[in-house]
Amino acid sequence: MICDKINGHTKVIGIIGSPITHTFSPIIHNSISKSIGLNAVYVPFNVDEENLESAVKGAYSLNIEGLNVTMPHKKNIIDKLHSLDNMAEKIGAVNTIKYTQKGYIGYNTDYIGINNAFLNNGVYLENKNVVIIGAGGGAYSATINAAQSGAKKIYVVNRTMKNSYNVAQQANKYYNVDIETVELNEINSIKEPNIVVQTTSVGFSHLSNQSPVKDCTFWWNVETVMDIIYNPSETKLLKDAKKEGVKCINGFEMLVFQAIASYEIWFDVKVKEVNKILMSLRDYYES
Ligand code: ATR
Repeated sequence: MICDKINGHTKVIGIIGSPITHTFSPIIHNSISKSIGLNAVYVPFNVDEENLESAVKGAYSLNIEGLNVTMPHKKNIIDKLHSLDNMAEKIGAVNTIKYTQKGYIGYNTDYIGINNAFLNNGVYLENKNVVIIGAGGGAYSATINAAQSGAKKIYVVNRTMKNSYNVAQQANKYYNVDIETVELNEINSIKEPNIVVQTTSVGFSHLSNQSPVKDCTFWWNVETVMDIIYNPSETKLLKDAKKEGVKCINGFEMLVFQAIASYEIWFDVKVKEVNKILMSLRDYYES
């Protein structure tokens, strides 16, 4: 337990979101602090939407060094910050904030997490048709990552078309990439879907027995799917895709890679031995 090491110099970092009880992030960050010998503690804070502004102000007054930001605050937090770094601006969503004398600065490390998780599995998006399911905060990161990785075409598939237009519009502001929006019910109309990134909350919490993809023939042409959900470790969507022979990646590696990138931003350090950290966390995650 790290509690007995807390003293007047301890830096406080954490995560805000709602719900938050499922989070694995404290295990990751506290084990990074332990492995590099930094006096810091990472705690989860359940923050409802109506309390986001006061939570950010309160965290700043308490000198909280940095926070991860998760569902449902990744977009709404933007106007409560002092400024955004370049990639967070491009993505239009924030999952990391860092304390500065002027106020909190917003970053996005989700796209780094998605990118590194694909690379770590030998999956390359260049010249591929990439299907992003969802149009919330995670979808913005997945779409920008696909655009930046040289995808041939990106399909943003969502229940609410207005939200998928917004994702496409955001990506087209910065990247000259072919993007089409598709209604979730029409997902099977996509020709040659090579790589899929699932970013909705379907498969998680009270929706854990559901998949956003109802007709499993969709999986017949897919090579790889990443579901950014890590709890449960195998969502219904991944189970269905696996049955059809699709290479499946759950949200665990993305989570660890985005966490490492956030940690490096907060403390201006380079986390070494990433594979060792990943392996020991995987043992814990799978146990
Ligand atoms: P985050 O910012 O963390 O990605 P979010 O903004 O709450 O989370 O995004 C949730 C995503 O899950 C959205 O794409 C949402 O679809 P809508 O834009 O239509 O709301 C999707 N989602 C949530 N519940 C869903 C459901 N029951 N069926 C299909 N999509 C759902």
